[in-house]
Amino acid sequence: MSIQIITQAKAELSQSEVFILSKKDKLANLGFTKTEIDYIQKKEKAGENYVLLNQLNKLSFIQFNDTWAKKSNAAVLEECRILGHKVCIALNAHQYNSVFLNAKIELPHSIALAEGIALSNYQFLKYKSDKKNAHSLQKIALHNEAKTKKEVAELQILVNAVYHARTWVNEPQSYLDAVVFAKEIKLLAIKSGLKCEVLNKKQIEALKMGGLLAVNKGSKTPPTFSILEHKPKNAKNKKPLVLVGKGVVYDTGGLSLKPTPNSMDTMKCDMAGAAAVVAAISAISLAKLPYHVIALVPSTDNRPGENAYTPGDVVTMYDGQTVEVLNTDAEGRMLLGDALAYAKKYQPSLVLDFATLTGAAAAAIGSFGTVCMGTADEKTKNQLKVSGENTHERLVEFPFWDDYAKLIHSDLADMKNIGGPVGGAITAGKFLEKFTDYPWMHFDIAGPAFLNSADQYRGKHGTGVGVRLIFDFVKQLSK
Ligand code: BES
Ligand code: ZN
Ligand code: ZN
Repeated sequence: MSIQIITQAKAELSQSEVFILSKKDKLANLGFTKTEIDYIQKKEKAGENYVLLNQLNKLSFIQFNDTWAKKSNAAVLEECRILGHKVCIALNAHQYNSVFLNAKIELPHSIALAEGIALSNYQFLKYKSDKKNAHSLQKIALHNEAKTKKEVAELQILVNAVYHARTWVNEPQSYLDAVVFAKEIKLLAIKSGLKCEVLNKKQIEALKMGGLLAVNKGSKTPPTFSILEHKPKNAKNKKPLVLVGKGVVYDTGGLSLKPTPNSMDTMKCDMAGAAAVVAAISAISLAKLPYHVIALVPSTDNRPGENAYTPGDVVTMYDGQTVEVLNTDAEGRMLLGDALAYAKKYQPSLVLDFATLTGAAAAAIGSFGTVCMGTADEKTKNQLKVSGENTHERLVEFPFWDDYAKLIHSDLADMKNIGGPVGGAITAGKFLEKFTDYPWMHFDIAGPAFLNSADQYRGKHGTGVGVRLIFDFVKQLSK
């Protein structure tokens, strides 16, 4: 169940309310009693920027914004989302079901605030018999204005998309195998007005997608390859943007088995890239952004079944290049290589791939951002980084020198599927580059895709990272 984000004329009686004020603002006309005003002023004098007022039948939240003038727009938006997180926690702790964002809050701030509240309210309770911890909050109301209504409708679409991505990541592979995932992708695509085709194992074999088929060899579940398209008549671009997502529904490492516990426990998250691109394209379609976008999702699990691909194997990929497999745990690049080569047929203006690809990316920057690299031009890279700041899904670009390509040289085949001890995220990127002939960026989300402990509105477990970044980027492009 998603949260409802709506507009209304004013706060209802006994509806909790959020205010963003300057310390210079008068508190007199905001509906507070004399005692309440005294309390707020006391807190304010004590140097506090945030006051929570428990009025017995509702809560009021007062955030002072006097320090915001010195901050960047992006930093202020992030403060609003974090305020939203605090608001969400308090409302649920007090069992309230709705909140009004005061009409005086500037639109970008109220949208970011609502976004923070809505994203914080996400829960995955499907496997809990006892739903007693289900959040009470169901409704966020903003002030009724024409331009607010449009933004609210778009935010609702985006929040629903992030919820979808998170839920897919949180679903264990005991439910979400490659076939079920493809079915769910198709269902969401249809609901979102997208064109969708799911290739089955026979079709994947006919196309000779050797990388995807090699990874799938140890599995009892067939692979899938989903193709989604949003092609509006008023598209701003002549050549499409193609999104590619790693859809490994579970990564045991294959015969190069990951050790348990720790490294295997959370590997249901290895389809987070796929979840992000599908959720993003669904939001792009529902929001009717005038931009031609295609999404490709190769999907399988990676297992050490009796016919599993082995270290030492040579695999012929979709485009005919050969790969010497030296570690079956470097499986993501095998299926992404096929998908990136397949993307050539669309003559894309740009390709973006999202993948929980390497522990090295996670080790380098943790969960605080996404590692990226690629061959897109500087302007595109800058637009992506701006979207990263706008959404606080921050990007760190890694060097992409050709020296790193030498590290995946194979004496036996065209390349090997692992590099050496250094630059693991980059050698993985260099491997992928060999399957591209168009402007392209690779996003390694291994760090931020899945959190073991809660981080503000990003929550615990699946974060849905990538969805808001892609949506913001396409929104900027379609302006
Ligand atoms: N799915 C993993 C990467 C990963 C690690 C995702 C941690 C999320 C959190 C990927 O398939 C993998 O196993 N990569 C190997 C590559 C190595 C064998 C070259 C890695 O990073 O260890
Ligand atoms: Zn792996
Ligand atoms: Zn993996």
